[in-house]
Amino acid sequence: MTSPSHHASSARRRRIAAIASLCLAAIATGCAPAGSAALSASRPTTRVSTSSADSANGDSFAGSAPVTGTERSTSLRAANPEMERFVDSVLALMTIEEKVGQLTQSTGSASSTGPRVSEAGAAEIRAGKVGSFLGVYGAELTREMQHVAVDESRLGIPLLFAHDVIHGFRTIFPVPLAEAASFDPDAVERAARIAATEAAAHGVQWTFAPMVDIARDPRWGRIVEGSGEDPYLGSVMAAAKVRGFQGTDLADSLTILATAKHFVAYGAAEGGRDYNTAEVSERTLREIYLPPFHAAVRAGAGSVMAGFDDLDGVPMHGNERLIDGLLRGAWGWDGILVSDYTGVMELIRHRVAADSASAALLAVNAGVDVDMVSGIYLHEIPRLVREHQLSEAVLDSAVRRVLRAKYRLGLFQDPYRYSSTAREKALTLTPGHRAAALQLARESIVLLRNEDHLLPLRKEIGVLAVVGPLADDSSSALGSWAAEGRAEDVVTVAEGLRRAVSPATRILRARGTSLDGSDTSGIAEAVRVARRADAVVLVLGEERDMSGEARNRASIGLPGEQLRLAKAVQATGKPVVVVLMNGRPLATPWLAEHVPAIVESWYLGVEMGTAVADVLFGDYNPGGKLPVTVPRAVGQVPIYYNHKSTGRPPSDSDRYTSKYIDIPWTPLYPFGYGSSYTTFEYGEPRLSATEIRPSDSLVVTVSVTNSGEREGDEVVQLYLRDDVASVTRPVKELRGFRRITLQPGEARTVSFTITANDLAFYDRAMRRVVEPGTFTVYVGTSSDSTRDARFRVVGDVTPVPDTGMVR
Ligand code: NOJ
Repeated sequence: MTSPSHHASSARRRRIAAIASLCLAAIATGCAPAGSAALSASRPTTRVSTSSADSANGDSFAGSAPVTGTERSTSLRAANPEMERFVDSVLALMTIEEKVGQLTQSTGSASSTGPRVSEAGAAEIRAGKVGSFLGVYGAELTREMQHVAVDESRLGIPLLFAHDVIHGFRTIFPVPLAEAASFDPDAVERAARIAATEAAAHGVQWTFAPMVDIARDPRWGRIVEGSGEDPYLGSVMAAAKVRGFQGTDLADSLTILATAKHFVAYGAAEGGRDYNTAEVSERTLREIYLPPFHAAVRAGAGSVMAGFDDLDGVPMHGNERLIDGLLRGAWGWDGILVSDYTGVMELIRHRVAADSASAALLAVNAGVDVDMVSGIYLHEIPRLVREHQLSEAVLDSAVRRVLRAKYRLGLFQDPYRYSSTAREKALTLTPGHRAAALQLARESIVLLRNEDHLLPLRKEIGVLAVVGPLADDSSSALGSWAAEGRAEDVVTVAEGLRRAVSPATRILRARGTSLDGSDTSGIAEAVRVARRADAVVLVLGEERDMSGEARNRASIGLPGEQLRLAKAVQATGKPVVVVLMNGRPLATPWLAEHVPAIVESWYLGVEMGTAVADVLFGDYNPGGKLPVTVPRAVGQVPIYYNHKSTGRPPSDSDRYTSKYIDIPWTPLYPFGYGSSYTTFEYGEPRLSATEIRPSDSLVVTVSVTNSGEREGDEVVQLYLRDDVASVTRPVKELRGFRRITLQPGEARTVSFTITANDLAFYDRAMRRVVEPGTFTVYVGTSSDSTRDARFRVVGDVTPVPDTGMVR
């Protein structure tokens, strides 16, 4: 064991070493099975560790189930007998209280210098009552607390330090919704790797990301934290992030455990109100909400977090069918299921548990391993076990999963491997990390409108007015859940523009209005400034705190008097470019109709201003696409591209069809949409066959040409439709995409392979099958602009096992 033991007396150190080596010898010879009388009867005072010669470093997620591509095992179920022996041996040493301690996650508290752990918190560690911490990080603090756990608790089991590292630790990347708009999983994987590197260097080993909740409702504030509305895109991004956070070896001191959250259908909160009930059918659950979790699990996610929602009458923190049955059973996953914050305790307010003992029992029996913060497990489980209300085997399974994670992270080998002040300094906000953040920020920008080629602007424009409350809002650029991100690290939009223009160009700044509220006093000044300018950049949207957890809005237009400001500035007749900063799709029909150029820039992180300036002045040609449908009005919600046909599809010429009498039924901007400074032409999609059997694969190829005069990125999208089926099927579903860069005049042939997995759906008996009949393939630049081709599946109805959407 390589822990520093300078605080321990030398006599004590000798005793620890002796017992630890006894324990290790027992483990090495395989003679320490769980419950072995020699180890468990006497419950000796000991320390547990693996030797430095142990293979923790070599332990990867090499499970048994074969997977293709870059994914790893579908199962974390141990193909590692050595780890299993070690874990069993540790378990055999533990009292019931110590076991429950491993399932208990505590928090630190905030201070002006960062997180801290109180003396009472340290005492709990010493008493073996804490297995992990939320929000405690920093090389020094984690080392100090780890020392208490390792050298001062009876068994010396190291702690896990968890933190919400969502889109960066200190180098903040675009918010997840924006990352998804890049349609570039490699770049997203790199972003997660950098976030993991910085977090791990600060002592963090476990992140509560990625959030993989599908969101079809922009009122829900947490839409900003996910990849939008589509299960296929969501699955690709989920897997990319898990790979990014976890790397190929969790024991590497720069990789961390990922958490797919919030299991499941949390994004279906009714009314867009966070924490609310979800009412989704079994079919929608399986086809829309579950796939990104399946993808995360197949990519090896070490942890999953339960959602605060109740689904079909069962709160997720007590949902045995979906946690133990589906996740652990059908999917063969064996990672840590962590509760969300006080989610276990909330079973009482859901009114499925009368008291905290019943809540603990319900949750642990359902498969919730770790109780985040509520303390209920600690207070209730020991008694429940003693009184035989809870089987100790259930407790042991949960503890095993926590111990395995610690083992895989290499913590038994070296509990301090993540706590290095040198790495903390060297690996934080490096120029390389900022460069990656800039590249992803550029890729995440979506050009929504560009009439008469107003963009890109000339850097020698003369006088540029930068108007709007968000233009120099450095905090908002970070977006929700910015971990250690700091406003002072941010290049704001105003600053980015200032740096980009020619020396002779003057920038005039006017705020115009407050972001929210009814103050219009600055609009006259904004109009005066606009009149003196050759062009106006109007930065509008939401501030940081308007999206994220518990940040739901009943209206999804521009807050406050920003629309009035936009109208006044537009009325000057000057060329106006709107830059939107927001964490949800904003319903802005007036802008879409009247303002000639609109750039969707979300919250792009530390390099926001540089990326926006690169796009506005043409140093970068935008190629992002919308990962979510943008409604015209909140009344259209839920609105998503992969809807059903209905018996009366909307039609302008027929009143009795599915639409509105006051606004069009179509979205303001469709899923997958995004413009460019160049143009792309698509050839007819070509199919490798017009008839296939369910076991065959089909290759779709399409030629895409850059028909404009600038280099540009295009996201080539492939959708499928089952033309006639035994149940109603979506009008189209994304089943492939590729972001490519083309030079002017360059043509590229892009191909996609379709297999039974892409054609399958749940039939009336909830069997996943491919049914014979015709399918339409759509290939194009967005969900509503495609060319199509048709093929036929012949043969019998064929069952297809659910191996997840992403292969
Ligand atoms: C509550 C949030 O729902 C969850 O996403 C987050 O990880 C935890 N709090 C911990 O901060």
